[in-house]
Amino acid sequence: MTDKRLLVTGAGGMLGQALTACLESRGHQVVAMPREKLDVTNYEQVINKVNEFTPDMVLHCAAYTKVDQAESEPDLAFFINGYGTENLAVACNHLNIPLLYISSDYVFDGEQDRPYTTWDDTRPLSIYGKTKLAGEKAVIRHLRRFFIVRTSWLYGPNGKNFVETILQIADEGKPLRVVSDQIGSPTCTLSLSETIADLIETERWGVYHASDDGITSWYEFAKEILLGRDVSVTPIQTKDMPRPATRPKYSVMDKTTLINTIGRELPPWQESLHSYLQLRKSRSPA
Ligand SMILES: NC(=O)c1ccc[n+]([C@@H]2O[C@H](COP(=O)([O-])OP(=O)(O)OC[C@H]3O[C@@H](n4cnc5c(N)ncnc54)[C@H](OP(=O)(O)O)[C@@H]3O)[C@@H](O)[C@H]2O)c1
Repeated sequence: MTDKRLLVTGAGGMLGQALTACLESRGHQVVAMPREKLDVTNYEQVINKVNEFTPDMVLHCAAYTKVDQAESEPDLAFFINGYGTENLAVACNHLNIPLLYISSDYVFDGEQDRPYTTWDDTRPLSIYGKTKLAGEKAVIRHLRRFFIVRTSWLYGPNGKNFVETILQIADEGKPLRVVSDQIGSPTCTLSLSETIADLIETERWGVYHASDDGITSWYEFAKEILLGRDVSVTPIQTKDMPRPATRPKYSVMDKTTLINTIGRELPPWQESLHSYLQLRKSRSPA
């Protein structure tokens, strides 16, 4: 599926920007739609834009992503992640266009003692997780040709994320206390974009789990970010840093289906992280 017309929603966001660049580098024609050009909650705008550009596929990266804030504004979070996704699914169904929807590991409760497969039951703990699941259900309800790509712990260029936060706190010389009892898989938007680009070419529709390879805690992740720097990180427990939204303790996803479908392994999270840190360094003013 090279040289196709692909419409990307949320193209101004962290993943949206990385995915747009990756797809363009592979020779696709990308119609990049940041929020200012396409508000997914506006059904008329959604149907008009999809109709106007009649892409070969819509890649839906737009979302309400403020996990803690969602607990105090659930209506807005559901409006964007649930109804916004439904608007796109309805438009795609109407025009017989496949849709790729980015979802999250937060659709699971993290109580399991083995990686979550795509057929494990979902049970989100937070409003944000519930809204992402609502989006999944809308896609499944309206479409036959879809990808649902659940990913986790994203970081990358052009976004507020854990890596940037840790580096900033370290640069400011402030104390770093990071939770060590939440386990998951950090994922760079650059490697995820390559994975998505490979996946859409297969046209093997369905639900996929996609993250970088390997698992770690937020504490170990922070230490890896600061590797080689004389900065100390203190491990703490989730209960010592209460936050409005409950996070899954064990947020590990089984990626066998994805690996079998795209026919290659996924990069280890440490490799992706160090490539990203290298890239970041090369782009920063001397
Ligand atoms: N970040 C993570 O750790 C993580 C983990 C798992 C899954 N995900 C999923 O990955 C996807 C990409 O996330 P990200 O990290 O790239 O988030 P992001 O940087 O916050 O990007 C989301 C984009 O969607 C836009 N948006 C919000 N409401 C919109 C609306 N009504 N219509 C159109 N656009 C709207 C946002 O614009 P504004 O900035 O103007 O609001 C932003 O540009 C999302 O589906 C997210 O749920 C993220």
